[in-house]
Amino acid sequence: MDHTPAPNIPVHRIIDPPVLYFGTPVVLLTTLNLDGSPNISPMSSAWALNDRIVLGLATNGQGSENAVREGECVINYAPASLWEKVERLARTTGRNPVPEYKAAGGYYYEPHKFDAAGLTPLPSDIVGPPRIAECPFQIEARIVAAHASDGHPWTIGCEHAFAIIEAQALRVHAHEEATLAGTDHVDVSRWKPLLYVFRHYLEVGRDLGRTFKATA
Ligand SMILES: Cc1cc2nc3c(=O)[nH]c(=O)nc-3n(C[C@H](O)[C@H](O)[C@H](O)COP(=O)(O)O)c2cc1C
Repeated sequence: MDHTPAPNIPVHRIIDPPVLYFGTPVVLLTTLNLDGSPNISPMSSAWALNDRIVLGLATNGQGSENAVREGECVINYAPASLWEKVERLARTTGRNPVPEYKAAGGYYYEPHKFDAAGLTPLPSDIVGPPRIAECPFQIEARIVAAHASDGHPWTIGCEHAFAIIEAQALRVHAHEEATLAGTDHVDVSRWKPLLYVFRHYLEVGRDLGRTFKATA
């Protein structure tokens, strides 16, 4: 068999990248701690199927513990302009004591994440955790399913255990100027999500076109 690459086909090689983060929006997950105070967990492993949003969260984070215990959360979509505030939260955790491997990686306990990031809480309508005023889209949600990614029982403290959490959107709040006036549509020309791409923060580029299913 001839293995000579065809012209115009890029040369391929096998790589072993440390992460497989090809690019997803950053969300700030708000949950309630046991004492009723709010926590914010930056995350990027979140995607939607109809009214369900699937969240991939480390089981030793405070956000996953809170979401599963309380059965609710708010999924706040961060705009690109917020990246420095998001990064202020990057080394923080609401978990006390900080898991050993996270402490070794420079993480520290932060009970006041809104103040630490310079973000503003707004009361939600349906769920307990607050919304984040600076995020153009905030989704109040309830948790409908959760399981550990490795098939083992929920393992708090294990470095590599992840939870796959299914949240059902109950109410979507939007900044007026991020919507098309008088409709339920997002104005995609104005929505500039913060993207997390291989541990870099990026902004989206130009609009290339729309799918045949687009209604706005
Ligand atoms: C931009 C960004 C994206 C992240 N994405 C995720 C993610 O998808 N899942 C996850 O478990 N942790 C993610 N993290 C790490 C958590 O934010 C981190 O573990 C944090 O300590 C969680 O806080 P908590 O323990 O108070 O919930 C991300 C961090 C940043 C800065």
